[in-house]
Amino acid sequence: MNADDGVQMSEQSGVRDGSGAMFDTIAADYDRVNAVISLGFDRGWRRELVARLALAPDEPCEVLDVACGTGDVAVAIARAHPQARVVGLDASASMLDLARDKARARALGGRLRFQLGDAQRLPFDSARFAACCMAFGIRNMNDRLAVVREMARVTRPGGMVAVLELGVPRGRVTGPLGRFYIQHLVPRLGGWLSGGPHAYRYLERSVAAFPPPGEVVELLRRANLEDGAAIALSFGACHLFVGRVPSR
Ligand SMILES: C[S@@+](CC[C@H](N)C(=O)[O-])C[C@H]1O[C@@H](n2cnc3c(N)ncnc32)[C@H](O)[C@@H]1O
Repeated sequence: MNADDGVQMSEQSGVRDGSGAMFDTIAADYDRVNAVISLGFDRGWRRELVARLALAPDEPCEVLDVACGTGDVAVAIARAHPQARVVGLDASASMLDLARDKARARALGGRLRFQLGDAQRLPFDSARFAACCMAFGIRNMNDRLAVVREMARVTRPGGMVAVLELGVPRGRVTGPLGRFYIQHLVPRLGGWLSGGPHAYRYLERSVAAFPPPGEVVELLRRANLEDGAAIALSFGACHLFVGRVPSR
């Protein structure tokens, strides 16, 4: 379920699909396109992710948002938890610039910090964060096990690791509709709205190639997380994967 699935490493113009360099090329349009192609569901999915971090209300804490992109999850955490400080890490400098602008515009700059880095080698001490999350990033990673292990490593014992990722609905009606939407409409809409269809064809291919929820839960277990679970959102159009770092 890693680089060898044939999708993660495909190349175009020297830019690896799903990499920070690819997101640099679409950063300016990312939020707008995202809101349209997710039909607005993405906000609710991110809210659910924040809720599942199970942060103690009103307790000062530090949270890590991996592959933070333009910072929507980090902002949602900071708004839901006024005592929380959030570090967002991403491999795209352009996405991070937009995240910083967003934090400043919402007067959250003091509690949000964004830095460039690779999810597979997190530049943080072990057990530093109260919780760690990632939204729509794991699909793009070469070594997914390394990423989840790193997320578990930097989270303190008892803390939650939560990973949100797109999927294809599997119901009798929602399955064919979802597949049609993601295979035919998303690449066209994305290409039309951003002027760069390649990234949105990649999105369709990478969602189709993403492993089924049971395999991702197994990945959490291999990363030494306990109580691993997959929660289907919007008929499986998205899954939230959660696990807890074992208490010492
Ligand atoms: C689909 S975007 C998701 C952004 C954001 N989390 C959201 O909810 O909209 C995927 C992000 O993963 C980042 N990314 C890709 N490979 C990465 C890596 N190895 N380490 C850190 N970030 C990475 C990209 O730069 C991009 O911003």
